[in-house]
Amino acid sequence: MQKAKILIDTDKTISKIDERIYGSFIEHLGRAVYGGIYQPGNPNSDEDGFRRDVLALVRPLNIPIIRYPGGNFVSGYNWEDGVGPKEKRPVRLDLAWFTTETNEFGMEEFQKWLDKAGAKMMMDVNLGTRGPDSARALVEYANHPGGTYWSDLRIEHGRKAPYKIKTWCLGNEMDGPWQMGAKTAEEYGRAAAEAAKLMKWTDQDIELVACGSSNSHMPTFGQWEKTVLSHVYEYVDFISLHEYYSNAEDDSPTFLSETETMDKFIKKVSLICDEVKAEKKTDKTIYLSFDEYNVWYHSLDQDKKIQRWEKAPHRLEDVYTFEDALLVGGLLITLIKNSDRVKMACLAQLVNVIAPIMTNDEKAWAQTIYYPYLHASTFARGYAIEVEQQCDKYDSKKHSNVPYLASVAVLSENKDSLAIFILNRNLEEDIALEVDVRNLRITAKEHIALEDHGLKDTNSAEMPENVKPVHKKLEEGTVILKKASWNVLLYKVN
Ligand code: AHR
Repeated sequence: MQKAKILIDTDKTISKIDERIYGSFIEHLGRAVYGGIYQPGNPNSDEDGFRRDVLALVRPLNIPIIRYPGGNFVSGYNWEDGVGPKEKRPVRLDLAWFTTETNEFGMEEFQKWLDKAGAKMMMDVNLGTRGPDSARALVEYANHPGGTYWSDLRIEHGRKAPYKIKTWCLGNEMDGPWQMGAKTAEEYGRAAAEAAKLMKWTDQDIELVACGSSNSHMPTFGQWEKTVLSHVYEYVDFISLHEYYSNAEDDSPTFLSETETMDKFIKKVSLICDEVKAEKKTDKTIYLSFDEYNVWYHSLDQDKKIQRWEKAPHRLEDVYTFEDALLVGGLLITLIKNSDRVKMACLAQLVNVIAPIMTNDEKAWAQTIYYPYLHASTFARGYAIEVEQQCDKYDSKKHSNVPYLASVAVLSENKDSLAIFILNRNLEEDIALEVDVRNLRITAKEHIALEDHGLKDTNSAEMPENVKPVHKKLEEGTVILKKASWNVLLYKVN
């Protein structure tokens, strides 16, 4: 058995974690909305048409913020189509996913659903086929108290008090040729700056996220961020990062080393932000919103068979494996380790579409990736603490010297509990871990683990609990981390 040691010194605080790093995402895509969170007439749905069984799985995740309505969808979306009386809403072609959008579900329905789910809205505006004028109208509709055209229309639609949406995204993946109204960095930078200006003039309390690159492999990555920030720096608060990870090559050690890809991406974007900060001679720091991340590759072939203009087809329905859950755990550790800079993040997405929760007409169930997300959102609130690791390393096809363990510690806000999150990506051997915590007197409580599974094990409607965590008594001193495992060690601080 391999041996490893971790040393935790609470003087080495990385940052107070912004809880919004446990955000998620709902797009008008596939069965995320229709047949996912919303299915009027289904026996499991409530009086508003919201699936109760889905809400029962969403609530424990305690999600602070959910991005909506896209994604690629937003770049052709007229927000006015999704407000007001349902019978007057138009049916439209959605050119992002080549489906038919009925608009039965829009902003008001989503807000009602969020109220039941206990989350806040992160609203994306269309900077693809539309621009500053529709964006500022939407802010006025959503956030202005009343007495103007758009705010009075909201009141006429039945919502007297404003929605008070605080966080807004300035479009989606505008560097991607697949995007409706894709732009060069110059074109987007100018459009986003003008939209941002009008949106903040309409409501000075909002915060804004500019689009960064669609992923770190885009040919324009780096230059895009620099150019866009040179235009929008004074108006925005965040820049976005998106990245999806794949094990299409069936090389699990490399797949599990993708945490390093995420970490390098974050570090590079932070450096670019600070370069522009220096050039602008300003004290303002731009923070990062990693508002799309997940594993995405299982459904790609199957999705090629979808016919055009279907309503809510089965699309992007990745069935997640045990190893996907391990990577998602590692990605969450990476976000927490970078919580001094990453202040928002969204696991993309929430239901049916590359999602931790799946449904059929009878039931909803948790996919494997649900569990690390649940654990991080539950136990990783408070202060992120650096962990000094002594463990063996390996070389993957993408990264050298990858430590077998990825870990971070979190001290709760009132400092009465400590959680240590550890991914063991050694696929051959268990690891005997010595835990040394300085500056704190602690009592070992519980060890939660995803372990003892085949890497390709999944959950399904028939076997919804095939992969689920075990809860055991945490030993004082040395802890055994099973090969290929996700671990949460919980301690009481005395
Ligand atoms: O989350 C699925 C899609 O991935 C989103 O619509 C888009 O922003 C990204 O490319």
